[in-house]
Amino acid sequence: MNILVTGGAGYIGSHTSISLLNAGHSIIIADNLSNSKIETISRIEEITNKSVIFYQIDVTDEDSVERVFNTHQLDGVIHFSGLKAVGESVEKPLEYYHNNIVSTIVLSNMCLKYGVRKLVFSSSATVYGQNVVPFAEYMELLPTTNPYGATKIISERILTDVANANSDLAISLLRYFNPVGAHESCLIGEEPNGVPNNLMPYITKVARGELSVLKVFGNDYDTVDGTGVRDYIHVMDLAEGHLAALEKLDNGVNIYNLGTGKGTSVLEMIKKFEEINRIPVPYEIVDRRVGDIALCYADASKARRELGWETKRTIEEMVRDTWDFAKTL
Ligand code: NAD
Ligand code: UD1
Repeated sequence: MNILVTGGAGYIGSHTSISLLNAGHSIIIADNLSNSKIETISRIEEITNKSVIFYQIDVTDEDSVERVFNTHQLDGVIHFSGLKAVGESVEKPLEYYHNNIVSTIVLSNMCLKYGVRKLVFSSSATVYGQNVVPFAEYMELLPTTNPYGATKIISERILTDVANANSDLAISLLRYFNPVGAHESCLIGEEPNGVPNNLMPYITKVARGELSVLKVFGNDYDTVDGTGVRDYIHVMDLAEGHLAALEKLDNGVNIYNLGTGKGTSVLEMIKKFEEINRIPVPYEIVDRRVGDIALCYADASKARRELGWETKRTIEEMVRDTWDFAKTL
């Protein structure tokens, strides 16, 4: 298939591009490089020994997107592009609503206009809010406390309405849990700008000595050791989940959790990182972070059953690959 990958220079998009190319698909990446680097494109080519067509465009700009649809005969779109920092979304809600929702509308519109049937969307486990774990696809979505989460719920709703109105469309809403790790080549990985918000990038900055201590946000949750529990998934497993979703896409709306189904606490993650990489990660316990939940992990059975996809990589591989890539920076 010939697939348009929006946000393909970013963390998850670049890893998924590798899986797509290795599976024999052709890709066209559209990215404005607002949170990524141009070098990533040549690294994808280097890893796969295949070429990539790249457009540096803003996916909210309908004319630019239309030029891509006009130039290439597309079979599908995977829509990764978007802004994703929860804290920033509270400070700049309009930027988040504009970027994340207009892009979804523009791409849906172009798919309809150019007869592109398949559309895969990057959603997030954040849409489950405070449901009871494990989170399953049939659960009602609960209001989130931040604009970022709201953009995912609204985009899911828009795509569902579009699919309901156009029976030949095949749309997949993929709800990611916590992606970590990097491609084994160490040529691509996660490179957040500034002080990271998420756990793994923060751990690597502390391990590298760029930040002095990891703040653990609360140890009084009702969890195995009082710290927050999350479903960490290796980014290459996540990438392969996209491939499975794309290749098995049915008409209508197809919702899948992409997670391992297993939870790991913050303290367990720190210990695993220290043990596998033989490097200390000093930490201190501080107050809970506003908006955090105690437990978040997937019921991963639907993707296993219907897509024949399940994660293969272990927590050990996740912390090893994260660190191996971080050491190259
Ligand atoms: P990322 O920031 O690394 O990648 C996003 C890419 O989109 C970047 O390369 C950025 O330059 C590009 N982009 C942003 N706005 C754009 C626009 N208007 N036009 C063109 N390009 C634009 O993020 P990621 O971690 O790879 O996330 C990809 C998607 O997955 C996002 O939609 C994100 O919300 C979602 N998601 C991520 C996580 C996570 O923890 N990483 C979890 C759940 C969902
Ligand atoms: C974050 C996002 C969420 C998104 C999810 C998946 C926030 C507030 N939420 O959630 O919308 O869907 O990623 O990518 O950013 N922790 C620390 N110290 C730190 C950083 C994190 O103790 O410096 C803890 C958190 O309290 C949490 C766990 O580590 O228990 C994981 O945190 P994080 O990586 O930010 O992911 P989520 O909280 O799942």
